[in-house]
This record gives sequence, structure tokens and C-alpha cells, in this order.
Amino acid sequence: MNTPTKTTGIGAGKAADLAYWESAARTIAAVSTTNKIVVEKSTVPVRTAEAIQKVLERNCVHTGVQFQILSNPEFLAEGTAISDLEAPDRVLIGGREDTEAGRAAIAALKAVYENWVPPERVITANLWSAELTKLAANAFLAQRISSINSISALCEATGADVTQVAFAIGRDTRVGARFLNASVGFGGSCFQKDILNLVYICESQGLKEVAEYWRSVVTINDYQKNRFVRRIISGMFNTIRNKNIAVLGFAFKKDTGDTRETPAIDVCRGLMEDGATCLVFDPQVTEQQMRYDLTDGHTGQSHSITSEQVAKQLKVSTSAFAACEGAHAVIVLTEWDEFKTLDWEAVFKTMVKPAFVFDGRNILDHAHLRELGFIVYALGKPVDPFLKNGNAL
Ligand code: UGA
Repeated sequence: MNTPTKTTGIGAGKAADLAYWESAARTIAAVSTTNKIVVEKSTVPVRTAEAIQKVLERNCVHTGVQFQILSNPEFLAEGTAISDLEAPDRVLIGGREDTEAGRAAIAALKAVYENWVPPERVITANLWSAELTKLAANAFLAQRISSINSISALCEATGADVTQVAFAIGRDTRVGARFLNASVGFGGSCFQKDILNLVYICESQGLKEVAEYWRSVVTINDYQKNRFVRRIISGMFNTIRNKNIAVLGFAFKKDTGDTRETPAIDVCRGLMEDGATCLVFDPQVTEQQMRYDLTDGHTGQSHSITSEQVAKQLKVSTSAFAACEGAHAVIVLTEWDEFKTLDWEAVFKTMVKPAFVFDGRNILDHAHLRELGFIVYALGKPVDPFLKNGNAL
């Protein structure tokens, strides 16, 4: 068998769907006149490579052309994609290890990476392992966040401090320190989608318990977003109707304007549903994007918010300070650095009293805020006596 000589990418965009990769495969089949190595880069359902192979073989117009499919999933994160690419923890290449042509294709792609990645960081595997690894890796990362978020609820109930607990857990080198920041919930285009993809595969393989286990990671994420909203409502004397709530941050994490699956959508919807006006500021998210996300652009948790409500109850501010002016409460939903250095003393003076801060990212100096007179709620931290007083969850 001739060894394929050229590499061609499939699904270089994130989360390519069936129609996308199938049409890409059909195009490759139509234009290929020589053997090809086709590299699957996107997150795809397990065994997509098999389907691509079939499409290529059945549609190739030139006889004798042979294809090798490789799975080479990306592990890049938004905001750090270039450094992740330049110095990856690992590169994973999956292919047909059981055939000579498959091994040759793997070696060809490995040689490309070895131009800048140390060879011991380039891992090879069979195709299905590589495809599944991408889903499982994201599921593991998301599971860590749901784990620490579940502990944050317990910390609040018992008087423990989730930051201290996470720090001590993370000092065990078997666990590691990263991805243990309690938050209002994880977002982004990948985690939830990949977990639900994993759940679907488990269910279709009859693995009910395994499917339930992974689904619970999403359940806890939804719980955390709801819990945050309920905490705001209960803390503010059980009603937020006609109250102004400054929302700092709308993106799913800092240093990006990406709002896909951002927890801000469910939190803002929950607050508006209970009658609050949200004064939102995010340094990178446009007003148009926020309005779209809060109306029909998102299919997350079901809050019955109409576009009329969004038109009336969403106000988009041009600065963090402007969002907070005259507000009853400030909530932090994205960990933008500029929120840490806001002139909180000046903010306090403009706010309706008692002035509340609900920190959904634990980035602010809570002791300092309390000194200034704020009532502060911080995720997974001992509860402010004011909030405890008849207002506990
Ligand atoms: C994630 C993975 O980290 C990448 O490895 C993967 O390649 C990528 O998905 C993908 O599949 O394309 P990304 O979605 O860019 O990358 O963002 P992360 O940095 O992983 O953060 C995801 C969410 O978890 C964010 O909402 C973030 O705020 C939240 N998070 C993260 C926490 O709440 N706590 C943490 O400790 C870490």
C-alpha cells in the first residue's frame, strides 16, 4: 500500500457538526488525486473517523487514491491558545496502529509536531481512544469545577472556607492545584457540550450508571448558578423586584468576549425573572450580544423571560463604575482584573444602602469591602452575619 503523502485538516473549527465534517470529507474525496492523510482536529462523536473513512472511500472520483484518517484533538483553551500550541502538555495522535499505512501516517504527523514539541510529549493511540480522550479530558476538567463548587455549598453551610480547602486539596501532587477555583459555574462552548456528548455515547452503549455519573457534573453546574441567584434573592430580604443589580462581567471567563454557555445568561435571566433590573458591564461583550443571549440566542436553563422583559430590564453600562452607580447590589460573574481595582469606596458612596456585593468568582478583597460597609457574600466562604440572619439558604 502506498503511504499517503499530504496532510489535510478536517474540522479545524471548534465543535464541527456532522454536516460540516461530512461535507468537508466529500470535498476532499472530490478533489484528491493522490493519497492523503486526513486529520480530524475538532471534537467529534467517537467513531466519526470511521464515518469519514467511508465517505472518503465511497466518494473518491480518482481510482487508487488511499486515505488514512488520524484523530489529533486540540487541547487549546481560549485566551492561551498560542502558548498552549507552542508548549503543549501533550499532543495526541490517534490512528490505525494495526496497519502499516496507519503507523506511517501517525509517524508523518508526529514528525510535524516534533519540529517544536519534545518527542516524549507526543502520545500516540488508536483512533477511538484519541476521539474519546478529547471528550473525557474536558469532562474531567469540568468535573473538578463541579466538585469544588459542590464543596463550596458545604463550606457555606458549615463555616469552612472553600479557598483554604481547595488550596490544601491541591497541594496533594496526585490531585494538583489547577482548576479548583470555585465559581458561579463553568461556561464556554465545550464543557457542557462534550459532557452531554459523553452522556449520549454512554446511554447508547447501555451504560446508564456511567451516563448518570457524568450528567451530574452538568446538574451541579446548573445547581450552582441557581444557588447563586437564590442567595442574592434571599440575602436582599427575599425580593429583588424593582431593584437595580450591577452585573460585572458577562463573558464565560476573563480575557475573552465569548459568551457561549456563560453562567451570566442563566444568572441574569433568573434575576430578571424575579423583577430585578440588570445593569451589565463587560469589557469585551457587546450590548447586541447580551441582548441576543438573553432572549432567543441561548437554550440553557429555562427561565421564562420574554424579549419585552429583556428590553426593559437589561441596561448595558459603559464602565464598571457606571453599572454600580445607584445599584442595590453588585454581583461579579467574570473574573476580569479591572474589577479588583475598582474604587470600591467611591462605588459604595453611590449605592443604595445596605449595599450588597455577591462575588461569584471570589476575586475581590472581601475584608476591605466589609470595612467600607458592604454586606458581602462570597462563594464557599463563611457567611456574613447579616446574610445569615434569617436569610440563610
Ligand atoms: C476548555 C479546556 O480547558 C481546553 O483544554 C479545551 O481544549 C477547550 O475547552 C476546548 O475543548 O476547546 P476553554 O473552554 O477555553 O477551554 O476554557 P477553560 O479555561 O477551560 O474554562 C472553562 C470554564 O470553567 C470557564 O467558565 C471558567 O471560568 C471555568 N473555570 C475554570 C472555573 O470555574 N474554575 C476553574 O478553576 C477553572
